[in-house]
Amino acid sequence: MSEELNQGLGTANRAGNREQTAAERPPVSPNGLDKEVVLAIRNLSVVYPTREASIVAVNDVSFNIFKGELLGLIGESGCGKTTTAMAILRLLQPPGMIAGGEIILAGKTDLVKLEGAQLQAVRWRDVALIPQGAMNSLNPVMRVHEQIGDAIDAHVTPRMSRDEIKQRILTLFGLVGLPARTFDLYPHELSGGMKQRVCIAMAIALNPALVVADEPTSALDVIVQRIVAQNLLDIKNRLGVSILLIGHDMGLMAQLADRMAVMYAGNMVEIAPARTILTEPLHPYTQLLIEAVPTIKTRKPLKLTEGLTHDLRYPPPGCIFQSRCPLVMEVCRRVRPPLKETKPQHQVACHLYDALQ
Ligand SMILES: Nc1ncnc2c1ncn2[C@@H]1O[C@H](COP(=O)(O)OP(=O)(O)OP(=O)(O)O)[C@@H](O)[C@H]1O
Ligand code: SF4
Ligand SMILES: [Mg+2]
Repeated sequence: MSEELNQGLGTANRAGNREQTAAERPPVSPNGLDKEVVLAIRNLSVVYPTREASIVAVNDVSFNIFKGELLGLIGESGCGKTTTAMAILRLLQPPGMIAGGEIILAGKTDLVKLEGAQLQAVRWRDVALIPQGAMNSLNPVMRVHEQIGDAIDAHVTPRMSRDEIKQRILTLFGLVGLPARTFDLYPHELSGGMKQRVCIAMAIALNPALVVADEPTSALDVIVQRIVAQNLLDIKNRLGVSILLIGHDMGLMAQLADRMAVMYAGNMVEIAPARTILTEPLHPYTQLLIEAVPTIKTRKPLKLTEGLTHDLRYPPPGCIFQSRCPLVMEVCRRVRPPLKETKPQHQVACHLYDALQ
């Protein structure tokens, strides 16, 4: 955990602030990275029951988030990215509910099983969220420092003095590149980029082990997007915090992420280091996603517009991508391909690689 940001946090009883016993120590990456797993998601399923049938927004998804990594979660609109994020924070809006699986924090706490005060204690302090559209949810009648100060005041024990909170907020501003004068401003006095940085400052205020950032740059213009994205990267590198970054922009994600996880219609279809995803994508959906990235030079047509995503209320037997896949085979219509490691650090859910697994 970052000493830089832990200063002044009092004796907040985070798992990261004390020596752990062998039983508590988080598992180590199975692929030799020798990194701690901060969050292990196992067979997570989330449904939104409707009168007719349940929407399976997240279907039996498993992945790890390692200590200090930026994992990019990518996929087209409606594929379940926000639902995954909200499930991790246990902030699903009704009728959304976790239908199965585990979300293991630091190798020991299953967030799915937590309720009430225990759950409140984990949010912000261990796992913080920058929700989709966060900058528009800042309270317009509260000054910036009051909003961040409230979060610190509510979660840090023993309570910090007003001076300590002020110092902490100014430290946070330094980290996210906000000028000190921002302290007394109201949200309407800030640009979009500044508001988004306030949201990032709030998310890291308690030095969490993991920040889940749901499209933190999508409402910003391209230049400001890059600046805010770089800011997130700096924070990751300086504080050693893990970040689950949700987004659409494959190009931007490739520059920021250590690894990328690709979702399609509620299913995880590929996970690999960001560079590998770009240069050696294995899943036909990932390949089409990359081909669909328009470049000024090529002005390529967007091949991915062909076909429609399956109705999530009635997922087909077999592969979820079969109706759009140019390489579909007979087995794909019968058997759901599990996410399996085909090469070290490279997992894919596709029958094309059955022989390699
Ligand atoms: N409250 C809800 N009630 C019913 N269905 C929902 C609800 N919220 C999400 N869904 C459905 O769950 C699926 C996944 O939605 P989700 O918001 O997680 O997608 P997303 O990948 O974050 O999309 P986007 O990129 O547009 O933000 C979609 O089919 C959506 O219609
Ligand atoms: S399993 Fe079959 S349908 Fe699915 S992506 Fe692979 S080849 Fe295409
Ligand atoms: Mg979303």
